[in-house]
Amino acid sequence: MVKIRIALTCSIKPEHIAEKDREKYAEFDSKGTINGLADAIKSNGHEVEIIDVKEDIKDVLKAKKNDIDLVFNVAEGLSGEDRESVVPKICEELGIPFTASGSETLIITLNKAKTKWVLEKNKIATPKSQLFHRGDEELGELRFPLLVKPVLEGSSKGIFNENLVSNESELRKVLVKTIKQYNQPALAEEFLEGREFTVSVIGYDSPVVLPIAEIKFDYLPEGVHHMDSYEVKWIYDNPDSKVDAVVCPAEIDKELEDSIKDIAIRAFKSLDCKDWARIDIRLDRKGIPNVLEVNALPGFMKDPKENSRLPKAAYAAGWSYEELIGRVLNSALSRFKIKIPTANLDKGFL
Ligand SMILES: Nc1ncnc2c1ncn2[C@@H]1O[C@H](COP(=O)(O)OP(=O)(O)O)[C@@H](O)[C@H]1O
Ligand SMILES: [Mg+2]
Repeated sequence: MVKIRIALTCSIKPEHIAEKDREKYAEFDSKGTINGLADAIKSNGHEVEIIDVKEDIKDVLKAKKNDIDLVFNVAEGLSGEDRESVVPKICEELGIPFTASGSETLIITLNKAKTKWVLEKNKIATPKSQLFHRGDEELGELRFPLLVKPVLEGSSKGIFNENLVSNESELRKVLVKTIKQYNQPALAEEFLEGREFTVSVIGYDSPVVLPIAEIKFDYLPEGVHHMDSYEVKWIYDNPDSKVDAVVCPAEIDKELEDSIKDIAIRAFKSLDCKDWARIDIRLDRKGIPNVLEVNALPGFMKDPKENSRLPKAAYAAGWSYEELIGRVLNSALSRFKIKIPTANLDKGFL
């Protein structure tokens, strides 16, 4: 079989991180996670070179252009509102095929307000919200409680337990703090009280929806709000914890399952996602699914103990990690019309 040469562009966590920098690197991957992904790519019959993305990434990719058939991109980038789109943009300019969404999608999905704008234009339910640039702007018609989030972060960065506010004075305080601390606008969003789900989608034109995962909060101690705040994601829900915070497949009836899958696919398509993405969804008071955000560079930790949501959904579908990565690869290869099927799949292209 012909091997294809894959460059794995990624953002690797420094080996030693001071406690104060933990949040800064929250979205980066450990060396072990990246090695696991590289092994899964190799097990599909390909060659892989790991590239830890730094400021010189454009020169690096330019120099290697003729030795690379495909970039497998999971890089978080360096800083700023275009950080996730840096590698896709370079690949688009240099004409190198790459996995996952393009630069435009990654700019929009990193920005929660812009994502919601696209969703709303496409009549996809998403909680009502207001974007604040300073924190003292006039408050529009929103129903408390509100949740304040920095508009350009992920992995629950900047979403603390205290960010769920029940009146205007609390709201102003959290807004000002968030805008200052993260140096970006903050979104105040109506808090949806219902159950939370996350949906993994693989492919492009006719994407496949993996089994729905439910995020559970009932194990949390009193006083900790039922949401995936920074405290919850990184303190209560960790590999050593005894609780299973992510239940997949979710225990839901067929009607709810269908409506969650339908909204996830519509969100995936409206944002022009490619190969893989994870859509965070929450039910409103009437039980109607709303999209919170779209993760176009989803987490991909192999070890089930890590509770990485997309791999967990793939395992629930009966796929191995290697098969999951093979399917993502195949989706990209098929989009770019590179006719080399990957080894772990017997069904050929998606
Ligand atoms: N409008 C909302 N109502 C209820 N919970 C929310 C809302 N927005 C966010 N959350 C909670 O905060 C978590 C993180 O928010 P999310 O928008 O997914 O940002 P991140 O990019 O940090 O994952 C969600 O998984 C959910 O538990
Ligand atoms: Mg999320």
